[in-house]
Amino acid sequence: MKYELEPFDPEKLRHAWHQRRLSGEPIDRSGVWRFRELIPFVEPGARIISLSEGSTPVVGTRRAGWWAGPVHLTIKHQGNNPTGSFKDLGMTACITRADSRHVRRVACASTGNTSSSMAAYAARAGMKALVFVPYRQISAAKLAQALDFGALVVEVGDTFDEAFRLLREIAPELGLYLVNSVNPFRIEGQKTIVAELMEQRAWRPPDYMVVPGGNLGNASAIGKGLRELKELGFIEKVSRILVIQAAGANPFYRTLEADSPTLIPVCTPETEATAIRIGHPANWKKAKRVLEWSRGFCESVTDEEIFEAKRILAEDGVGCEPASAATVAGVRKLVRAGKIERHADVVCVLTGNQLKDTEYIMRHRSTAEESRQRLRVEPTAEALREALQAALAVPA
Ligand code: F0G
Repeated sequence: MKYELEPFDPEKLRHAWHQRRLSGEPIDRSGVWRFRELIPFVEPGARIISLSEGSTPVVGTRRAGWWAGPVHLTIKHQGNNPTGSFKDLGMTACITRADSRHVRRVACASTGNTSSSMAAYAARAGMKALVFVPYRQISAAKLAQALDFGALVVEVGDTFDEAFRLLREIAPELGLYLVNSVNPFRIEGQKTIVAELMEQRAWRPPDYMVVPGGNLGNASAIGKGLRELKELGFIEKVSRILVIQAAGANPFYRTLEADSPTLIPVCTPETEATAIRIGHPANWKKAKRVLEWSRGFCESVTDEEIFEAKRILAEDGVGCEPASAATVAGVRKLVRAGKIERHADVVCVLTGNQLKDTEYIMRHRSTAEESRQRLRVEPTAEALREALQAALAVPA
């Protein structure tokens, strides 16, 4: 989406954005609408459908930074959003827009997070939400969220790509408004993460911004946000954008490696990081332009590497879902390959909350190696004493 953005005085606007943090108005409390000058597509007076999204924390991670580099690793935790993922930023923009156009039925295909988010914002706007998800391929928590917010959940196909293709085919005849990241208003909302992050860093862009890549909407949105802030004079340098994919679902990585002018799809994508289990990313061309513009690149990591990264983040007290941990795994691989300098200033965007996929945690934390974390003990003091002495004798 292209606008003629007003020529701003960056200094004045930074001040106004900062002041809004102190306001009690819902439109100012939202980490998306606080930056509304960057998303001027809503008519004055329009109803804003917001759940106070955004305003997510940045935290340093000493252990993970050491493990991945050493690099100066900061986490931007989008799992702290109302429905637990970065999708809420785009959703408030998209559903607000749909509401202003009197849309009554919204739909998306999803690996889970988009569906949770859309269901919540649609409920708030009083719209009917239809969620298309691959059968038995999304986490129970994400499915539960969509159900809890009253969405109609349609389980169809084995992959996101199949569900998405079918939804696109039937959406026009059913009058469904599509909310996937091909919807430009989603990208507009999501790009505000960059303004918020830069503000939190006193307008000093990091050397690298790292995101997991699925349908590649987020990489596109972050690239757009960076480009606009640069053109408007808010930042001087541009962070290089890195996209990390799971090895079993890495069509973008393959396409760039082969320098192919057409997408090299992955027909049966496979990864435990189900959020990014996508073989035909819709936004790959946009994301490619973003990488070219920011001098970024794409990397691919195995499920084992993702788990290692998630485990290290947990040692810093930072929880996230597997797809998010792919970013930190990617940084480690790229430092080792000499593509990221040691001690670089790196921000990894953790896209989803730890509790989004507890099945994954329980699977991994119940393996032989980890099982010493769980004891089941006869309810007697004697048995407890014995079990705990044995468990605590093992060095942590
Ligand atoms: N991380 C998480 C936790 C996600 O849920 C997704 C995408 C991504 C990363 C990748 O972002 O698609 O913009 O490249 N989830 C979508 C969904 C596909 O349906 O929830 P992307």
